[in-house]
Amino acid sequence: MPDTLTVTDNRTGKQYEVPIIDGAIRATDLRQIKAGADDSGLTTYDPAFMNTAACRSRITFIDGDKGILEYRGYPIEQLAEHSTYLETAYLILFGELPTDAQLKDWTKQITLHTMLHENIKKLMEGFQYDAHPMGVFLSTVGAFSTFYPDAKKIFDEQSRKKQVYRLVAKVPSIAAYAYRHSIGRPYVYPDNDLSFTGNFLNMLFKMTELKYQSNPVLERALDILFILHADHEQNCSTSAMRGIGSSHVDPYSAMAGAAAALYGPLHGGANEAVLRMLHEIGSMDNIPGFIKRVKAGEGRLMGFGHRVYKSYDPRAKIIKRTADQVFEVTGRNPLLDMALELERIALEDDYFVTRKLYPNVDFYSGLIYQAMGFPVTMFPVLFAIARTSGWIAQWEEMLLDPEQKIARPRQLFVGARKRDYVPLDKR
Ligand code: CMC
Repeated sequence: MPDTLTVTDNRTGKQYEVPIIDGAIRATDLRQIKAGADDSGLTTYDPAFMNTAACRSRITFIDGDKGILEYRGYPIEQLAEHSTYLETAYLILFGELPTDAQLKDWTKQITLHTMLHENIKKLMEGFQYDAHPMGVFLSTVGAFSTFYPDAKKIFDEQSRKKQVYRLVAKVPSIAAYAYRHSIGRPYVYPDNDLSFTGNFLNMLFKMTELKYQSNPVLERALDILFILHADHEQNCSTSAMRGIGSSHVDPYSAMAGAAAALYGPLHGGANEAVLRMLHEIGSMDNIPGFIKRVKAGEGRLMGFGHRVYKSYDPRAKIIKRTADQVFEVTGRNPLLDMALELERIALEDDYFVTRKLYPNVDFYSGLIYQAMGFPVTMFPVLFAIARTSGWIAQWEEMLLDPEQKIARPRQLFVGARKRDYVPLDKR
């Protein structure tokens, strides 16, 4: 006998039994609750999806109260310590950690697909010199759909696999080209001898040397950051990926939309916003005044708060440790002291404590990126590179889920009803 929820409709006195499965009721089960023949049935109202599960997923588990994050059951702390981004991407996409042979093949496939079509270069050259790299990134990902029309065969497993290789492999190349374009340097072709992250650093920072060699500490730190950002269940951009993908468009078009969602300062653009905020605050003396303004509702403490985490974001803890290792190589980011002081105050202040606002993944990541030499505009792009594996895994899970259909929320209509058109001269 399944658990049920008994609902009594006070309008009619009728009782309804609604099954509870996996801790949820089906919103469509409420439609049977009607007050009369012309009542279309009860619906649920949930702006911003505060309490609505739109899918079943096996990819990422989060316990926001306990600060737990797992990809396919593996704790984020273990993956950050022992795995690489490419291995983690495989885990997220295919459900299991790869065997040695699988990892070698996966790495080979990704390495084989890092090059961009020469016309992509021409496309990117059309952007203004000061174009935001995230705008360039999402436009280029969208343009990919015109280069790979075979991607429209979304129910062909082999075709999907090809797009997975292309997307995971090419996003660092797009990001690097966008960066080189913004500073007027020639594009650097991928170096297939290097690791995924080592090659990305090569495409970003290589100058005239014959072979680019990254600092292993910085390369590992960036790889860890990629692991931490790889997936985060049904966040804004992933919901966009699933929502757009549910129309059965190709994955490049869907991912352009997901990247656009990530761009916003409340989501992946927050790392950039944190750095801008720290610059605006300017000095330790200005912190109390800044906190006062945040508490008065005049702005937000960027990099703080999360829809799901109501305790310390486990990713932020790992990032804080990684920052120490990076600063040993690059020297301490002078903004770090301000960030630490903001965190100290916020963790004690009643406003933040009662609202359970803790540092999230974006609070410290920007300080690392900046110390590594990235301009702030590149921060959301770095997030997008890592999140690509999560987006495609979630997209594929949605496509293969027989319960999914085109995403189409309902509305509560509160506007004017039928009115007669008034000619212009009578208004
Ligand atoms: N600074 C000050 N007050 C805040 C903040 C903040 N960063 N975040 C939330 N609040 C307050 C908010 O004003 C509200 O107060 P009240 O109840 O008095 O109206 C309360 O906390 C609840 O906030 P909310 O806006 O209802 O929470 P939400 O779940 O809708 O928003 C959030 C989550 C992440 C958008 C929000 O916390 C925020 O804007 N944070 C800053 C931006 C940021 O760091 N985003 C990155 C998120 S992590 C990376 C990712 O996955 O994208």
